[in-house]
Amino acid sequence: MGDIAKINVGGQDVESPVLKGTIGPDVIDIRKLYGQTGAFTYDPGFTSTASCESALTYIDGDEGVLLHRGYPIGQLAESSSFMEVCYLLLNGELPSKTELDGFNHTISRHTMVHEQLSSFFKGFRRDAHPMAVMVGVMGALSAFYPDSTDIADPEQRKISAHRLIAKVPTIAAMAYKYSIGQPFVYPKNNLSYAGNFLRMTFGVPAEEYEVIPAVEKAMDRIFILHADHEQNASTSTVRLAGSSGANPFACIAAGIACLWGPAHGGANEAALNMLREIGTPDKIQHYIDRAKDKNDPFRLMGFGHRVYKNYDPRATVMQKTVREVFAALNVSDPIFETAMRLEEIALSDPYFAEKKLFPNVDFYSGIILSAIGFPTEMFTVLFALARTVGWVAQWNEMISDPGQRIGRPRQLYTGPTQRDYVPLDKR
Ligand code: ACO
Repeated sequence: MGDIAKINVGGQDVESPVLKGTIGPDVIDIRKLYGQTGAFTYDPGFTSTASCESALTYIDGDEGVLLHRGYPIGQLAESSSFMEVCYLLLNGELPSKTELDGFNHTISRHTMVHEQLSSFFKGFRRDAHPMAVMVGVMGALSAFYPDSTDIADPEQRKISAHRLIAKVPTIAAMAYKYSIGQPFVYPKNNLSYAGNFLRMTFGVPAEEYEVIPAVEKAMDRIFILHADHEQNASTSTVRLAGSSGANPFACIAAGIACLWGPAHGGANEAALNMLREIGTPDKIQHYIDRAKDKNDPFRLMGFGHRVYKNYDPRATVMQKTVREVFAALNVSDPIFETAMRLEEIALSDPYFAEKKLFPNVDFYSGIILSAIGFPTEMFTVLFALARTVGWVAQWNEMISDPGQRIGRPRQLYTGPTQRDYVPLDKR
C-alpha cells in the first residue's frame, strides 16, 4: 500500500493515493476528488499540477537538470547528434549503428514535400511572419498526407512522425526563402539533417553551397537543445489538441501556434531584439532597473523560467557554442559582450537572486543564430523545427496509452448566476 494524502473538504476527509515517479516530486492523485466531494482543484497556470504521465523527459528545475530518457542534456549536446536524440525520444533507447543508419535513411527519404505545397506558399503575403506561414503550412500537411492520419494505427503514427521530422526543415527553409523572394531549394539527401537545412536555407540554385562543418555542428546542437522540454505550454497544447483524436499534423500546427508567443518560443527573437536595443554595456543598468520596476511591463527577455530556478543547463551549452561559431566564422558581435555583462549584473542583483531568475535557453541562442545568418523572425521557426520531434514523441506517447481520454479542464465560474432573457425593446 503506497502513501496516502488526506484532503479535508468541508469537514469531510478524503484519502488520495500518492503516486511516485522514478524521480521527481510525488504526485497526489485527485482524479476521484470531484466524485467524492463535489469540489474541483484550482491551478490555472498548472504550477502544482501534473497533467499526464510521461517517460520522455525529466527536469529538476532547482538543480538545473534536464534528462531525455535519462540522459543528461549536456552529454547529448556534447557527444550525440540530433538524429540520435530524435531516435531516443521516439523509441526510448539510443540506437545501435544499424538502427541509426536505418533511421537516417528513413528521415532523409521523407524530406521532400508534395510539389503542390509550393503553390500553397504563394497564398501568403511576401511580408508574412515565417511563423504565420509555419502554422498554416504544417497544418495543411494533413491535406497532403491523409494516408498517415489514422491515429489508431501505430504504423501510420510512425510514418506521420517521420514525415513531420523530415519535412519540417524543408518547410522552415521554404518559409524563409519565400520571405526573401528566392527560389525554394530542394533537399539533398547525402547531407546531414542540419547540413541539408542550412543548404536549403542559405543555398541558391546559381552556385554550390558549401556546408561549414562547425556551423553544421552548432546547428545540430541547437536542435538537440530544443528537442523536448516535457510539459511546457506548446507540448501541453499538442497533447490537448491530440487528446480529441485530431490528426498529428493539426496537433503540431497547434503546438507551433502556442510556441509563437513571446513568453515561450518567441523569447529568443525578443531576447536578441532586447540586446540590440540595449546596445552597449553602459546602458545595462537602465534596463535592469526597468525590469525591476513593477510599473514597467518590461522584462529581461531570455531570463527566468517557470521550472528552472537555477541556471538553465541549455544556456550553458549555448554560451559555449557562441564562441565556437564566432571562431569558425571568424566573426564577433559586440552584443555577446553586452549579454555576458548583463548576465553578470543581473545575477549579482538581489532582485534576480531572490526570484531565482537565471538566463534561459533563449538568452544566447539568438546571438548564434544571428551570426549564422538567420534573421530574428526565423528564430522561433528554428525552435519549432527542433521541437517537432518532442511534440510528436509526446503525442505518440499519449495516443499509445490505452487509458488515454480527452483533456477537459474544469473551471471556477465567476460569471452571473442564471437570469431571464430580456427582449431587445426592454433593454
Ligand atoms: N525579468 C524581470 N522580472 C521577471 C522576469 C524577467 N524576465 N521573469 C520573471 N520575473 C519576475 C516577475 O515579475 C515575478 O515577480 P513578482 O513575484 O514580484 O510578481 C516573478 O519574477 C515570477 O515571475 P512569473 O511571471 O510569475 O513566473 P512564471 O513562471 O509565470 O513565468 C516566464 C516564467 C514566462 C518564462 C517569465 O520568467 C518571463 O516572462 N521571462 C521572459 C520571457 C522568456 O525569456 N521566456 C522564455 C522561457 S524559456 C522557453 O520558453 C524556451
